[in-house]
Amino acid sequence: MDTYHIRGGYSLNGEVVLSGAKNSVLPIFAASVVTGSQSNITNCPEISDAEKMRDILRMLGCSVTGEGNDIFVDSSQISNHTINEELMSSMRSSVFLAGGILTRCGIAEIGKPGGCKIGKRPIDIHIETLKALGAEVEEKEERLILKTRGLRGNTVNLPFPSVGATENAMIAASRAEGETVINNAAREPEIIDLQNFLNKCGAKIKGAGSSSIAIKGVKEMVPAKYEIIPDRIEGGTFLCMAAATRGEIFIRNAIPEHIETILQALESIGCKIKTKGTGVWLKDCKNIRGTCKVITSPFPGFPTDMQPQITAMIAGMGIAGTIRERIFENRFGYVKELNKMGAGIEICGKNAIISKGNSLVGNNLFAEDLRGGAALVTAALAAEGESSVCGVQYIKRGYCRLDEKLRLLGADIEEDDGERA
Ligand code: EPZ
Repeated sequence: MDTYHIRGGYSLNGEVVLSGAKNSVLPIFAASVVTGSQSNITNCPEISDAEKMRDILRMLGCSVTGEGNDIFVDSSQISNHTINEELMSSMRSSVFLAGGILTRCGIAEIGKPGGCKIGKRPIDIHIETLKALGAEVEEKEERLILKTRGLRGNTVNLPFPSVGATENAMIAASRAEGETVINNAAREPEIIDLQNFLNKCGAKIKGAGSSSIAIKGVKEMVPAKYEIIPDRIEGGTFLCMAAATRGEIFIRNAIPEHIETILQALESIGCKIKTKGTGVWLKDCKNIRGTCKVITSPFPGFPTDMQPQITAMIAGMGIAGTIRERIFENRFGYVKELNKMGAGIEICGKNAIISKGNSLVGNNLFAEDLRGGAALVTAALAAEGESSVCGVQYIKRGYCRLDEKLRLLGADIEEDDGERA
């Protein structure tokens, strides 16, 4: 297992440039299946989940070329409607492909998606949505076979503003016969990014970012070039790491309205924030006071994907905090590792209670998921002494060269790939 070795106690100072958003590039790669054309997707983050999604596109018959952040997908030829178990179970976003494969092939065969172990993460809303658009779904030995004689527009009322189900519906409806309205749609910035990508490819979608999205199905789509938005969760993660180490950082390419609630949480404990255009400054985290209160909610609420990192920041700063996780039923797994460092966090149902006056001491820590891993790095940077964070492969699913970016900010962090004697 790859491991980070971190010596805590160094404050992070300097400038950060964010990579493209993981939770944009994955649905946009999935959506490239539905276009039947050439897409040039730029500012792609170099993360393992994006590599795996490209492998799935190749397995379906797409041509996927390009280097680094600049990727070309040609989906004019789809020769396969099945995603194998290994790739399907490697991440959650494999389920986003169902709508696109169904549109192109009239049949799609998928297994249970994978993804971070932060809850049951069923796909019932995805399935009901695709059925509403004209798919028949059969379950056979843990696999799902979806068939259609042609998807048709419909009104889709989501029981919960599921990000993935909203994206699956947008992709499937983009070439369905007639009009679709998605009510109670997720409003995350990545939903707007997906709408903008599909519209550049010739789709007719409007309303992304609101709770109601209207889609007029089109017959043909066209080649397009599209730039992925910066990763708001990476931005929030760096802000929490800098605050936890009492540092001062400047993020050059943030979109402030994407991280509003994160900035508010930092200001609520006395950090100074300044924004100008795409620049975000975090300063003066020395005179911290009070209790940090966070409740996770669908956008525009506080993002669940920042819950572990801000909890670790609060513990690392030695202040009090109450964190309520309302999206996933099991997203406090990382807390036991923080408590090995002396965090003294109590879990009561959906709440994590952090008492004032902690001071963390380095320890051997084990990451079990992406954002939990980022939380352990945050705590190790703030702790006294040395820590090891095992399970870096989870962190690499969503962060591009995190150790390099942290070293540039003054952190003492090295990766040990386990090869050295
Ligand atoms: C997306 O996951 C993100 N992943 C997650 O980011 C993020 O935490 C989540 O949205 C919420 O913002 C990607 O975009 C690749 P949901 P998704 O459907 O689509 C329940 C990260 O760390 N639900 O909005 O899976 C579900 O169990 C990852 O970057 C159903 O019950 O999230 C959860 O409790 C983690 N049935 C809630 O809804 C369904 O069919 C929210 O899930 C679908 C979801």
